[in-house]
Amino acid sequence: MLENEILKNITVLYAEDESIIQEGITETLNLFEINVLCAKNGQEGLSIFKNFSEKIDLILTDIKMPKLDGLGMIEEIRKIDKNIPIIITTAHQETNFLMQSIESNISAYVLKPIDIYKLKESLIKAIESKILKEELIEKNKKLEIEIQKNKENQQIIETQSRFAAMGEMINMIAHQWRQPLASIGTASFNLKYKLLSNKFNLETAKGREEQTLFFTQKLDEIEFYVQNLTTTIDDFRNFYKSDKKLINTNIETPIKNALKIIEKDLEANNIKVELDLESKKEIHIYENELMHVFMNMLKNAQDKFLEKNIDKAKIQIKTFDTKDSVEIEICDNGGEIEEKNLNIIFEPYFSTKKEKNGTGIGLYMSKIIIENNHKGNLNVCNKQGNVCFSIILHSMI
Ligand SMILES: Nc1ncnc2c1ncn2[C@@H]1O[C@H](COP(=O)(O)OP(=O)(O)O)[C@@H](O)[C@H]1O
Ligand SMILES: [Mg+2]
Repeated sequence: MLENEILKNITVLYAEDESIIQEGITETLNLFEINVLCAKNGQEGLSIFKNFSEKIDLILTDIKMPKLDGLGMIEEIRKIDKNIPIIITTAHQETNFLMQSIESNISAYVLKPIDIYKLKESLIKAIESKILKEELIEKNKKLEIEIQKNKENQQIIETQSRFAAMGEMINMIAHQWRQPLASIGTASFNLKYKLLSNKFNLETAKGREEQTLFFTQKLDEIEFYVQNLTTTIDDFRNFYKSDKKLINTNIETPIKNALKIIEKDLEANNIKVELDLESKKEIHIYENELMHVFMNMLKNAQDKFLEKNIDKAKIQIKTFDTKDSVEIEICDNGGEIEEKNLNIIFEPYFSTKKEKNGTGIGLYMSKIIIENNHKGNLNVCNKQGNVCFSIILHSMI
């Protein structure tokens, strides 16, 4: 903006008790097309400011004035407006006021007698920095709105991810429970059958012993399976705990916990899991979150095996320690990811399983968990027909 343009139409509150000086300066300011509101002392200045604070862009004030001096007026004005630029006109002998005025955030001092060019320069600088400040405030406001929006979007995605995981979970519970429930059914059918068909000769001690043995055995079996069902439910319940607590453990725990939940499902689909868990280092992790990540990876590999009907399907999970990190590699032999998709599979809502209710949230959430919450790295690459996800977690986060 041109210098004269900046000053055009701004409004200055000018407090000065010497009317000759005030008139002279006001006339010159008017030449620059600056509107001037004049006050004869600090008290009048303050009252004008209170009435027209919205309109006033800058304050120009003398220090020594009757009733209320310049610094007294500034102190009151600063209580109302911390940012409005203030320029002080001062004589040499008044410099002892300077220390006090520094605290009031003064834009400039112009020595008396006033050099009009110096005054103009100070006015321009003060107004420019005011404009910049206002632009900055505006930008910050926009940024805050943007951040808030992002936060809300993130929350929506997290909720969606929980729902999606819940759907998958119900499927897995069904798999895990099918076998123990069937076994409980068979055991209880056997018991009823033997009882109703009088299979044991209760007249003899041997017959009674046989019956007791048979019943205890079957009831033990039922107890065992009930125990099994209870454990599964506990595993699933753990899966849903959103415990935001960092714990010290090795990486094997969340891997094993994820496997506990999904392995029946994998078995049922003839998918082998090979473990090579070398890492023994203790690291600081959100255990449940990492379990979710491993679940996502295993589930994705399984989805692909089923979609492509892969023979000898195999997932390899490898962990090892380096000097200051723990690395995990999860590879599957279900075929590579298309080159053009390699960079976008971590984006929210990217899914190649749209018609099969893919949500496209799993990998996005995994990335957030590894990179934001654990300050680690999650990457993917194709390796001779295999897809490999690699996770690096640093020992200290
Ligand atoms: N192991 C994998 N092999 C090949 N492609 C994969 C693998 N894991 C993920 N992808 C690709 O990344 C996409 C996004 O995965 P994800 O975020 O879990 O969402 P969704 O499983 O709902 O599609 C998948 O649709 C798939 O195209
Ligand atoms: Mg997925």
